[in-house]
Parts: sequence; structure tokens; C-alpha cells
Amino acid sequence: MRETWVVGAASTRYGRLPDSGREAATRVALEAMDRSGIDPKRIGQTYVSNAFGVAERQAHIGPLINTALGIPDVPSATIESACSSSSAGLHEAFVHVASGFADAVLVVGVEKLSHLDTLTATSYFAMGADYPFETRNGATFPGLYATLANVHARKYGTRSEELGAIAVKNHANAARNPHAHFQKEISMDTYLGSPIIASPLRLYDCCPFSDGAAAVVVAAREVVGAPSAEPLVIRASARAGSIADMQDRPELTGLAATQTAAVAAFRQAGIGPEKVDFLEVHDCFTIAEVMALEDLGFYAKGSAAKASADGETARDGKLPVNPSGGLKAKGHPVSATGAGQVVEIFEQFNHEAGARQVPRTEWALAHNVGATGGSCSVHLFQHR
Ligand SMILES: CC(C)(COP(=O)(O)OP(=O)(O)OC[C@H]1O[C@@H](n2cnc3c(N)ncnc32)[C@H](O)[C@@H]1OP(=O)(O)O)[C@@H](O)C(=O)NCCC(=O)NCCS
Repeated sequence: MRETWVVGAASTRYGRLPDSGREAATRVALEAMDRSGIDPKRIGQTYVSNAFGVAERQAHIGPLINTALGIPDVPSATIESACSSSSAGLHEAFVHVASGFADAVLVVGVEKLSHLDTLTATSYFAMGADYPFETRNGATFPGLYATLANVHARKYGTRSEELGAIAVKNHANAARNPHAHFQKEISMDTYLGSPIIASPLRLYDCCPFSDGAAAVVVAAREVVGAPSAEPLVIRASARAGSIADMQDRPELTGLAATQTAAVAAFRQAGIGPEKVDFLEVHDCFTIAEVMALEDLGFYAKGSAAKASADGETARDGKLPVNPSGGLKAKGHPVSATGAGQVVEIFEQFNHEAGARQVPRTEWALAHNVGATGGSCSVHLFQHR
């Protein structure tokens, strides 16, 4: 396999996009290409993720982006894997470049839903669950993750204040991130005073509905020459699946797809969790950050919530987690989220993260989950 790098990355601010999803996606694609210093003619394939493009009456935006880049003859495909769509695109890009099928691949994720009300957006998102057993019976993502939180709490005694510490930490990070949806800190009192959305999850346990777009350029080391920014060397690109519907799972205190993908990723990279300096994990709800840290192998089952409350995962803690603010506070524009995690790692590796800069940037991990864990991607990046 060829050594494969991320050589360019760009993102909009998450929140409410002033333009269409297609325009925002094109904008970040142009910015990421520009940042990479790679001639667009080297792009052999474009992968675009836009799970809810139908909400804007626009599908198949890959050819539109390629046309704007002056490469209309280049093939594109749309990759959908619920909330892990653009990390699935990144995996395909890695496979193409590492294997020699393409010298460079562009990955773009975009979502625009802010023109929909909460009820409509909730029903769109719920399409990622199991319709006959879950969605048709009233399940929503806050409800499904609340079930996971209840089971975790019953087995390990996970407390509201521990989940609240994750929300407070991620809001503090997002307050220092110009790409973030919520650029405001919250206190534990604000957290505890916020309304219950799906018990035990409160407003501040939930990610918001965000618009946003992010793009990443992946290229083989030998075609890059002198990179115009510090590249991320992709040391592992692992994907896994698991039983999608929750009622058929033997265990509800974690996500099997995360566990499987993590084992594969650490095996590919030839390192263990102790080497990783910081992580971007899929905290669509605070309980998801707890499960991620346990399933990825950073903490024993039942111990991540307490470690988070003790400050271990803060920006200046032992293991910074979600320095971007995570899905909770940076925001969660579904199909852009996976690529957006890579933008954060790119900025951290290039020491462009300003007030949210983490101290060590040798190894980083990105973890992106589809729905309640039917699919998952884990990527490991190393500083060149
Ligand atoms: C939690 C949730 C139900 C709140 O929606 P809502 O009650 O309709 O909230 P509104 O959009 O009316 O916003 C009300 C206020 O809360 C804020 N807000 C909304 N969601 C928020 C969130 N998740 N965290 C913090 N603040 C939030 C808004 O900014 C707004 O603040 P303002 O009054 O200062 O302007 C909604 O954000 C949600 O469903 N999130 C989960 C999305 C999801 O399931 N994603 C998929 C994950 S797998």
C-alpha cells in the first residue's frame, strides 16, 4: 500500500448556512483543494456525502462540485452511511489512493436542514433507525440514546453530573472554535437546569441540528512533492458494522461497531491507545462520548464518565477529547461531521487551533458513528 496523506482540509462554520448545501460544499471543496496545493487534474475520484440532500431538492452534487473545480470528466459518487457518511467517504478515498487506483481523491460532506422545524428534522433523522421496529413505534435518536444512557447508568451508576461535565467541557472547547455552532460556555448549573429531552438526557446532553460543510483532500505521498501544510499521515482507516436495530443486540452499554473498528484500526497502525495524543469522537449525545472512550479502549467499561468529570479529557488534561467542541457543541451537520473531525485534526497538527490548541499532536484518532452504531469509522493519523 502507498503511504497516504490528508493534504488539505476546509470547513464552513457550523450552524445556519447562508447559502445552499451545494454552494457551501463547492466552497469548501475549492478551499481544501487550494490549501492542498494539488492540481485538481490529479483528482481521480470525488466522494460526496449529503444524506438529506432531498430536503433541498438537490441530489447528485458530485458532478456539480467537479464542474466548479474544472474537472467535469472526473467520476464522483455519493456515499451514505447516516452520521458516518463522510468518514465512509474518507475510507473509500484511502482505499483508492493507498491501492494506487487514484493519486488523489476529494471527500466532501454537507448538510443543510435549518429550513426545517425540529419535528420535521427529527423525522428525517429517524429514517436512519429501523423503521418497522423503532421509528414506526415513535423512537427518535434522543430516545434511542436515552435508552443506552439508562442501561449504562443502571449497570455502572453513571450520574447526570458526569454527563454534564462532558457538556460543559465540549461547550468550553467550542467557545474557542470559530467553526462551532455554539460558541458559548455553559456552567453545570445551566446544564442541570436545562429541560429533559428524553430522560435522562437534557437539552445540553444533545447535539443540535446544524448545517455545515467540510472537505478533505487525500493524496499519495509521492504525488504531493513539498506539501503546502503539515499533512496527516493516515496510519489506519477502519470501518465496521453491527446489528442495526437495538432490540436484537446482546449488549446496550456500548457500541459493538466501535469496538470492532477500533481493534482493526489499532492493529493497522501497529500502536495501542496509549500512543494517542487527542481524539475527536462521536458525541451526538454525552453518553455517546462515554461509550466511545470505553469502546475504543481508552477507559475500562464504567470508568470514562468519572474520568471525564475528573477533568482527564479536558483540553489540558491527560487525554484531550473533542477539542473542537464535538458534535455536542461544535455541531452535527450529519454528512459533514466525519470530514469535519479531520479538519479539526488538520488544524491541530498545523498549530492553527488558536485558543483550543492541544499540547501534543503526534497521533490523533477520529471516531464517527452511523445512527445508533449500525456503522462506524475509526481513523488514526500521525504527524509526518
Ligand atoms: C434537543 C433538541 C430537541 C432541541 O430542539 P428544540 O427544543 O426545538 O430547540 P430550538 O431549536 O427551539 O432551540 C431553542 C433554544 O435551544 C438552543 N438549542 C437547541 N438545541 C440545542 C442543543 N442541542 N444544545 C444546546 N442548545 C440547543 C437553541 O439555540 C435555542 O437557543 P436560543 O433560544 O438562545 O436561540 C434538538 O436540538 C435535537 O433533537 N437534537 C438532537 C439531534 C439529533 O438527534 N441528531 C442525530 C444524532 S444521532
